[in-house]
Amino acid sequence: MWGLSSAESRRRVLRRYFGEQDEGAQAGLAADFNGHPVGQLWVRLRRIDPAIEDGLAAAYVHTLVVVREFRRIGVAEGLVRAASNLAAAHGRTHLAIGVDRPNDAARRLYAKWGFRRYHESFDLRGDLIFMRRRVFEAEAGRTRSGELG
Ligand SMILES: CC(C)(COP(=O)(O)OP(=O)(O)OC[C@H]1O[C@@H](n2cnc3c(N)ncnc32)[C@H](O)[C@@H]1OP(=O)(O)O)[C@@H](O)C(=O)NCCC(=O)NCCS
Repeated sequence: MWGLSSAESRRRVLRRYFGEQDEGAQAGLAADFNGHPVGQLWVRLRRIDPAIEDGLAAAYVHTLVVVREFRRIGVAEGLVRAASNLAAAHGRTHLAIGVDRPNDAARRLYAKWGFRRYHESFDLRGDLIFMRRRVFEAEAGRTRSGELG
């Protein structure tokens, strides 16, 4: 899904991700259509950059991508909600996500899902804007207890 360019370095990154998954530091989620992967994201649950956590128990969602033919039917939203569920189960209260500055479409989408911009960074990882929101499960809990009416 990431294309064939720099395949070897992608493989090295993925090997590291799967190693961290074995250690419980992050998890890879895939959306499946009849046995074929059509979308993915990774969610980091531990060992998060303190600037991204920003004093909160945040999980960090990254590397979200949906196969072009399966876009705009809710696959990304389903993946983000599944990540939220996993984060909440690990005691995380917030979801953070990093977006490349030029990716206005993704930023608009996350804003629609209630993510708000809180941090920016410009370093070797790129020019990123960070957005966050409470895990979706916190909202459901408040609604159940009547706090949101
Ligand atoms: C950004 C990305 C992950 C979104 O994936 P997606 O599965 O299309 O996202 P969703 O379907 O959940 O939502 C996208 C749009 O579809 C709409 N949608 C959701 N369900 C729908 C449905 N059943 N019918 C029609 N539209 C629907 C959403 O309202 C949203 O509308 P908008 O674009 O007008 O805001 C995808 O475009 C992608 O892979 N882009 C390239 C990689 C990338 O930019 N990743 C983000 C890195 S931070």
